[in-house]
Amino acid sequence: MRQYEVAVLGGGPGGYTAAIRAGQLGKKTVLVEKRDLGGTCLNRGCIPTKALLHSAEAYHQLGSAKSLGITLGEYSFQYKKMARRKDKVVKQLRSGVESLVSGHGADIVRGEAVLTGPHTFRVGEEEFEAEQLILATGSVPASIPVPGTDKPGVLNSDGVLALEECPESVVIIGGGVIGVEFATLFCDLGKPVTIVEMLPSILYGNDPDVCSTMTGLLQDRGVTIHTGAKVLEIQDGLTCVFEKEGQTLTAQGQIVILATGRRPETANLGLEAAGVEAQRGFVTVDDEMRTNVPHIYAIGDITGRQQLAHVATAQGIVAAHNAAGEHRKMDYSAVPGCIYTTPEIACVGLTEEKAKEAGYQVKAGRFSVMGNGRSLAVACPDGFAKVVADEKTGRILGCHVVAAYATEFISEAVLAIRHGLTVEQLGQTIHAHPTVSE
Ligand code: NAI
Repeated sequence: MRQYEVAVLGGGPGGYTAAIRAGQLGKKTVLVEKRDLGGTCLNRGCIPTKALLHSAEAYHQLGSAKSLGITLGEYSFQYKKMARRKDKVVKQLRSGVESLVSGHGADIVRGEAVLTGPHTFRVGEEEFEAEQLILATGSVPASIPVPGTDKPGVLNSDGVLALEECPESVVIIGGGVIGVEFATLFCDLGKPVTIVEMLPSILYGNDPDVCSTMTGLLQDRGVTIHTGAKVLEIQDGLTCVFEKEGQTLTAQGQIVILATGRRPETANLGLEAAGVEAQRGFVTVDDEMRTNVPHIYAIGDITGRQQLAHVATAQGIVAAHNAAGEHRKMDYSAVPGCIYTTPEIACVGLTEEKAKEAGYQVKAGRFSVMGNGRSLAVACPDGFAKVVADEKTGRILGCHVVAAYATEFISEAVLAIRHGLTVEQLGQTIHAHPTVSE
């Protein structure tokens, strides 16, 4: 039986970071991964989508070349080449992750780990024992219980990212983060896109100004958006049949994308054998990322917190330190959320509504990027920045931005919220001009 001080099961951004940190802390560590290191984020999520979105945005921007004083000849895109570029980016980052993990002394084992007891697991025929375990097996796309989801051409995000050709038209079920990013991708490539969302708006749960601004911008670019729509079935063709305000409507696409959330990948992990408690597949953890079994930790999408790579990474670091004998706690007070639309969306902290619900006397300020020099100079005049503050203390509670580069500069607001800065402190800080961030 192979023996380790720390075993990390699952090699996504949570798991590989935990393994690196455990190695840095001098622990004899093993990282087990059944597919590719880097997990969903690197192989089937954040990175490949951003690579494709960049190609699509560049193509879309060529459409306004004339207004920038550029005369273009004929131009077109080859989706296969865009896909190859995406694969190259992923491959390069993946090899970086592999060398980081082994460079910090952690062993990498390929295969599916199954817990066989509170300290033991097997990978194929091989048995392992570990003093401390960190579960980080992530999530997979969730489907919906309607007829027709098994038809060819009905794809989840994994399927979309594996496409070799650009579909001629797209119907997206689910107007959450994944739905809206794929809508941006195919709309930038000039294809008809329809979003069918069950809730009253797309990106529901974000600041209402974010939802309405993005709805308007996507519609201006030709995306059809149906909200409050209940999908009934997907027929051959592919035709998505849905009910909205008592009427039965249809949307037709060469592909139908299911972007209806993700479910934890814990069904075959052997949680029962280890005595680890879970609810609907999500492992229950405390602020130290500990499960009900004190030497077993869980991090990332399987914990049911925000399913974000950077949350998993932060949890992985906390778990690794605690597995090495510390008592670190997770702090979720300032978690940025970034959505890679055009322009980008970046939010952190409380919305105005949530701040009021939490009992704050709220003061909110909103500035349209129409009045921002850099935004106009880079031909991206759409969007706004909204700061939500506590009127009594001036402390910043939330920041919600739709603007070019928003995902790059939201970290300033994250830092401000994390450290209790006030609007005056932020305002009195000299910001470079001209920037969108100012
Ligand atoms: P989501 O929970 O953000 O959105 C799913 C949407 O589908 C919801 O709006 C929901 O109301 C809708 N829906 C569910 N069932 C439906 C039905 N039967 N008919 C119509 N609409 C239906 O989940 P999503 O977009 O799949 O993303 C999964 C996770 O991945 C999220 O937690 C997200 O944060 C994360 N992610 C993050 C990204 C980022 O940070 N940029 C990018 C992509 C994903």
